[in-house]
Amino acid sequence: MSAACILALETSCDETAVAIVRGDGAVLSSVVASQIEIHRVHGGVVPELASRNHVLHARALVEQALTDAGLTLKNINAFAATVGPGLVSSLLIGSTLAKALALAEGKPFLAINHLEGHLLSPFMSLGEIPPHLALIVSGGHTMLLDVRGIGEYEVLGRTRDDAAGEAFDKVAKMLALPYPGGPEIDQHASSGNRQAFDFPRSMLGGGYDFSFSGLKTSVLYLLPKLNLADAAVLNDVCASFQEAVIDVLVEKTLSASRDQNQKLIAISGGVSCNTRLRKRFAERCTEEGLQLLLAEPRYTTDNAAMIAFAAMQRWKTGYTSPLETDVDPNFNLAAFHAG
Ligand code: KG4
Ligand code: ZN
Repeated sequence: MSAACILALETSCDETAVAIVRGDGAVLSSVVASQIEIHRVHGGVVPELASRNHVLHARALVEQALTDAGLTLKNINAFAATVGPGLVSSLLIGSTLAKALALAEGKPFLAINHLEGHLLSPFMSLGEIPPHLALIVSGGHTMLLDVRGIGEYEVLGRTRDDAAGEAFDKVAKMLALPYPGGPEIDQHASSGNRQAFDFPRSMLGGGYDFSFSGLKTSVLYLLPKLNLADAAVLNDVCASFQEAVIDVLVEKTLSASRDQNQKLIAISGGVSCNTRLRKRFAERCTEEGLQLLLAEPRYTTDNAAMIAFAAMQRWKTGYTSPLETDVDPNFNLAAFHAG
């Protein structure tokens, strides 16, 4: 094996994930141990349970990733891990294991920003990062960025309250749907009427920031008037809520691409898995003559392939990190420069 290989761990929240990516961007292996069933009974992620389960699974997943790729630790040129943003106690597990492997094998360690993993994930099949307008929509973040190259990220807008995924999860909880709510709403919405309820679209005066709390509150106020036991009503609420979120995401992203003169739009993060969101963006980008790149569905929610891919792009710029690098629950993507 001549091309460089990077093994990355991702443990920023409730997924334990390990992946190996080659220098040309090929994903040689990607394994994820989801903890959804463990946290579902609590209606959300319990940090201590998350970190304890990372400890239980991380080592076996490293072995699995190596076996799947047909490699041994000796074939790995560098070890990477997410160091933020995320839950401190979860970040510590993956990053400490990656550092230990780097130390034992005498190879470099790369500290990676979780959001950079999402940000670059639509480009995994291309292997390079052209300038573009990016939308990250995950459980923890909603961000619009102007991307000029690796480490050249200008944040144009972000959410002022709930992230898009958080709004999906909270509304789903109000509707007594299981955690995580995004996929549940996606599924119920597919047979609902998108015009059944006229929920607010908060455009915040046309700026690039987002706000989803008003929308969430208006769903809450509507609930006592509805019979959610009627499947058709539930589906209509899901479809109407989902459409309101997507309308705002689409219009703000397209207007940012016009203002920044970017002809390529890339969308990532767990919410970009949403069926209707993918369809709406595809339609609108075709109408506007814009090119659209969506992260592959399996790389939209948290995974280590996107972290290994981001690490590989960084590695090519000469980036490595000292073993003393600490985790940072608020790791700022815009301050994570190249080189
Ligand atoms: O990127 P991600 O795995 O984690 C964070 O970094 O936050 O995103 C998880 C979020 C959750 O809020 C989940 O409900 C949402 O992505 N999600 C979806 C869908 N699949 C996952 N939201 C809407 N539609 C989906 N199909
Ligand atoms: Zn994420």
